[in-house]
Parts: sequence; C-alpha cells; structure tokens
Amino acid sequence: MQAYLVGGAVRDSLLGLEVKDRDWVVVGATPREMLSKGFKQVGSDFPVFLHPGTREEYALARTERKQGRGYHGFTVYSAPDVTLEQDLKRRDLTINAMARTEGGELVDPFNGRRDIDDRKLRHVSEAFAEDPLRILRTARFAARFHPLGFTVCDQTMALMKGMVASGEVDHLVPERVWQEFQRALHEKAPEAFFEVLRDCGALAVLIPEITSSAVFTRAMAALRCVHNRADTDTEERFAALLSSLDEPVALARAKALKAPNDCQNLARLVTAFTPQLRNSDPHNPEADALLNLLDQADFWRRPERFSQLLNVLECTLSADFPPLNLLRTASKAATGVEPKALLAQGYKGKELGDAIRHERLERIRDAIAHTKD
Ligand code: CTP
Repeated sequence: MQAYLVGGAVRDSLLGLEVKDRDWVVVGATPREMLSKGFKQVGSDFPVFLHPGTREEYALARTERKQGRGYHGFTVYSAPDVTLEQDLKRRDLTINAMARTEGGELVDPFNGRRDIDDRKLRHVSEAFAEDPLRILRTARFAARFHPLGFTVCDQTMALMKGMVASGEVDHLVPERVWQEFQRALHEKAPEAFFEVLRDCGALAVLIPEITSSAVFTRAMAALRCVHNRADTDTEERFAALLSSLDEPVALARAKALKAPNDCQNLARLVTAFTPQLRNSDPHNPEADALLNLLDQADFWRRPERFSQLLNVLECTLSADFPPLNLLRTASKAATGVEPKALLAQGYKGKELGDAIRHERLERIRDAIAHTKD
C-alpha cells in the first residue's frame, strides 16, 4: 500500500500558507489491512481511518458517483484497485486535487500547480456538477484566496451557472448551506463569496432579497465594515448581510437559512432598530423612546448582544449617527440602576418595576440633557 498527502495540505504548502490538517489517501489497501496496522476506523460512509500515532486521517482511495439530487445519493466505490488519479479526479477544484508522495514528490494530473500559479479556481472534471455544495465551496475558496488574487475561471463559472439553472441548488439542505455561509463570513474577503454566488445565480436561490444591485452594494459595504472591526462574530457579520432588509423579510430569510437563534435575533434587532433610529429626531430626544429601545433590545439581560447591535448599526448607519450616539449614552446612563438598592428601600412587585423604570428614565433624561450642553 501507498499513502499520499492530499487536498488542502498540498495546496496550502504550495501557497506558502500554514498547513493545519494533513489528510492522506491510501492506495492498494483494504480496511482489514488498515485495521491490522493499528488504524482506527472513523465514519461509516467512507473507509476513513485515524493513524495510531499521528491521529491524522487516512482515507482509502475511492470513486464517487451521484445517484439522486442535492447532497444525497452518492455511491462510493472503494477497493485496492482504485488509483490515486481516480481519487483525485472525484475532487472539486484542481488546486485541491494534488497529492504528494511520502518522499515529497508532487502528483498533479489535473494541473493544480499551474492554476495555483495563475490564481485560478477551476473544476477538475464535469463530475463537479454532481455536488451542488461545491458551488458554495468554490465561492468560499474565492473569499479565502481573494487577497492572493484568485478568481473563478470562466469555464467553472459557466458550469456553476448551468447547475443553478437546472435546479441543483434548490435541493441543498439548509444545514450544509449554513455551514458554508458561516465559514465564508469569516474568510478574508467574505464579499467575494457573495459575488461568486450572485454571478452564478445561486444567490437568487439562497438569499434572493439581496440580489438587486442597490441592496447588494449596501449589504457588502456593511459586511466589509463589520469584517474590518476586530473580533466580530458570526452574528454580527450575518446581521450586517441582511441589514438593509425590512425586519419581517430579514427574519423570514434567517429562519429559512436555519441560521442559529442568536444570528436570527441579531438580524431581527438590527433591521427593527434601523428604521426607528432613522426616523427619530436627534434634536428632540425623548428619554421614553430611548428607554423603550433599550427594553426592546432586552439590554438589561443581554448587554453583550446590545453591544453587538451597536457594532452593526455603527457600520450600517455610520459611527457618528446622532440617534445612535444618544442610544449609547442612554444605555450607559441607565446601566447603574440597582434593583437591590430599591428593594432595600422597601419597593417590591409592580412598584419595584415602576421605580426601576422611573430611575432609569431620570438618568437617561439627565444624560441626554447634558449632551445638549
Ligand atoms: N472535497 C470535494 N468536494 C466536497 C468536499 C471536499 O471535492 N464537497 C475534497 C477536496 O479535494 C478537498 C478535500 O475533499 O480538498 C478535503 O475537504 P475539506 O477538508 O473540506 O477541505 P480542504 O481542502 O482541506 O480545505 P480547508 O482548508 O477548508 O479544510
């Protein structure tokens, strides 16, 4: 049997990037031989094993044929007669379809090296079209390697357009789509992910509401701004993406994408707050209205989420948007009201609630009066 280093490790070392995981393909072996050498079998779909020492993944060379639609129905054929080249041929992109022998020699039957040099994302074979998830993967690699100058080559773009037109993207399960979205939102140039999806038509299936040119431009600007801030999380990035939609539309889309609840909630808040802040008059701020917004955001119990909300709104409305500054001032002013102190004064039940609200209102009134000075 022969083991070859494959996939991302070969690609990333040629790009001079840090190699995180090393995956191997084994040619000429049976599961029984692998087990007898101390490998542990993992996963039931394919014959994949963990090396007893390094814990790296070793997969037996295999071919895959598509049977059904979407991401279901692959028939896997794995046997000692499957060659390395056959295994590489079933892969998505040429830059992912190279191998290295244990001696370090590059095995590159599909010219991945040339595409690395030319900065091209190119499909290995027509079998690319058998797996619609590859459209999202290709877009994600475009987002990751955009700073290095990579683009999707014309032939692959044409193939992806054909896949979208034949309805392949409609059959992707939301969980897999979300997984790719989540990863793409954290790549170096997340806009490139959505540009590729837009150009091949997949965006019109996955998030049709942001495909029009004006909305798309705003969504990308918001995403870029949030991305440029240090340490922003998935919730903030996702909310920025949907930020120029109306609240019910954004929420329905977030649900359809099966985004996690925290992502749905932040998208809902951002889109609910945007028109309210836009329509408020910063010259005549009302403490009541500001307190209502803080209640609406559940600021008292979810202060971290409130700061995520401000982070996104600073990007979509601009950092020095006066109503946003007032909201921030109000939140700081109202923070210090201690229910404990009011309890000690004998307040309880509804009276306690009223006293807390009253105290918060007073503090907000005071603080916004000072901003006018
Ligand atoms: N692959 C594929 N089609 C898919 C998923 C994976 O062809 N739908 C192939 C690619 O050749 C890829 C390899 O399987 O290189 C391993 O997949 P994965 O670990 O997801 O990607 P990596 O290329 O290792 O990239 P990453 O750096 O994101 O882990």
